[in-house]
Amino acid sequence: MARIQEEIKKRYGRIARRVSGKRSGGCGCGAGGCCPTPPAEANGYRASELADLPEDAIRASLGCSNPVALANLQPGETVLDLGSGGGIDVLLSARLVGETGRAYGLDMTDDMLRLANRNLKKSGLTNVTFLKGYIESIPLENETVDVVTSNCVINLTEDKFVALSETYRVLKKGGRLAIADIVQLKPVPDSVKKSIELWVGCVSGALTLEAYEDTLRRAGFTQIEIQPVGVYEKSLIEEIAHDKKLQGLYSEQDADLLDGAFASAHVKAKK
Ligand SMILES: C[S@@+](CC[C@H](N)C(=O)[O-])C[C@H]1O[C@@H](n2cnc3c(N)ncnc32)[C@H](O)[C@@H]1O
Repeated sequence: MARIQEEIKKRYGRIARRVSGKRSGGCGCGAGGCCPTPPAEANGYRASELADLPEDAIRASLGCSNPVALANLQPGETVLDLGSGGGIDVLLSARLVGETGRAYGLDMTDDMLRLANRNLKKSGLTNVTFLKGYIESIPLENETVDVVTSNCVINLTEDKFVALSETYRVLKKGGRLAIADIVQLKPVPDSVKKSIELWVGCVSGALTLEAYEDTLRRAGFTQIEIQPVGVYEKSLIEEIAHDKKLQGLYSEQDADLLDGAFASAHVKAKK
């Protein structure tokens, strides 16, 4: 396994164990949505939709927005969430597709899958399956899924083209993509890009809008829409760096260069 993927797995395993151990929640993608702000206010989830979800599913939320809100899910549909973590988006989707539909979550990290399955049990939902595997090699048949969602995961993969091609493969014709992710809006110093810590935090692996669109198009997608929704200002970047104890990794000058360089974004496309 590639070194970066191994690091990512270890990191998310630690976060899942921390949530399960009832210590403070995780911190994944770094924007206001991860920590310290709770997801209901910061990440586009309505308090009412979170109200009866298991507490650990909410505490484990590591996304950068709410992809389910983009997906327009209908009763009876099959939905797959890539990098499902503690399962928040899978459980929300499962309620929307109802008993005649099915919601899959796919994750590579054993501790996350354990946490997600515990959350599933608490939720009482019966139309959910958490799968172990990689988004670069999705363990589902061709053209079996109506909607693919993902929340702050595509940026983590080193081969985004392979992951998005796999996504295209499992989608039915006319199927749709509803992703929340981090995008890069302007060039940043190589030293920052190379930092594995920032990569794990969803920033250094972010694509530019042009590269994201190009990768989706090459994977076969059409009707592509990529909308930045929350630009990371210098103050937020500094807060993230402080949380992750990264201050030593870049200078004040770098912090200025990072100002406005990244944003959370909504990505929609069709097969
Ligand atoms: C930032 S967290 C997001 C979790 C969840 N989507 C959420 O919003 O709370 C990233 C998740 O993706 C998983 N992940 C990262 N890269 C992956 C890959 N290549 N294949 C499968 N899962 C992956 C990690 O194990 C982790 O659970």
